[in-house]
Amino acid sequence: LDDRPLTVAIDGPAASGKGTLAKRLAVLLGVPHLDTGLLYRAVGRRVLDDGADPADAEAATAAAVALVPADLGRSDLRGPVADAAAAKVASVPGVRAALLEFQRRFAQSGAVLDGRDIGTVVLPDAQVKLFVTAGLDVRARRRHQELMARGGNVPDFEMIRAEMAARDEADRTRAAAPLRPADDAAILDTSSLDASEALARAEAIIRWKLGV
Ligand code: DC
Repeated sequence: LDDRPLTVAIDGPAASGKGTLAKRLAVLLGVPHLDTGLLYRAVGRRVLDDGADPADAEAATAAAVALVPADLGRSDLRGPVADAAAAKVASVPGVRAALLEFQRRFAQSGAVLDGRDIGTVVLPDAQVKLFVTAGLDVRARRRHQELMARGGNVPDFEMIRAEMAARDEADRTRAAAPLRPADDAAILDTSSLDASEALARAEAIIRWKLGV
């Protein structure tokens, strides 16, 4: 194929199974993994800490430029508040530009990155690109079960489904790096697959792409 370090780009909507898949593939391939959604979540958190509005392009860009790796270890990057803030800062072009270099540097010696625009924008030359997807109902059910397992106050299924649909729509229709499969991405629909089955499919796709 080529002798560049192996980079794998994994994109897809929320709760498609891309995060779990990316983590397992990275272990299998012996390369580091970056969940790029965490970058947007951490930027959203920084903006909120500053008392600013995540939709304010100037404040969001300043937060992205000031981001440090330690921000990714914060414990408050999940949940509805972080979800909403992340989706807002993710539509700001200045934020995306500021995070681009960090992501490319991370991938320099080989890596698995998962997000929304990895195959299209961040790593357009990745040797392997997967677009992981699943039906809205399946994804909403997964998220619902995940939240139930964590305990605490869980929004009902309909609410989760509606919020997920809204966020998908925002990710797909935004002007800056919208969610879409790269032309050379393999589509992996996990609607009827569990995590191990999805991993097996992904492995087969990678073998085929790399000709091994
Ligand atoms: O995958 P996630 O739910 O952690 O992503 C959080 C938000 O960041 C979501 O609204 C999509 C956005 N995002 C993005 O625009 N580009 C990426 N590469 C990763 C996430």
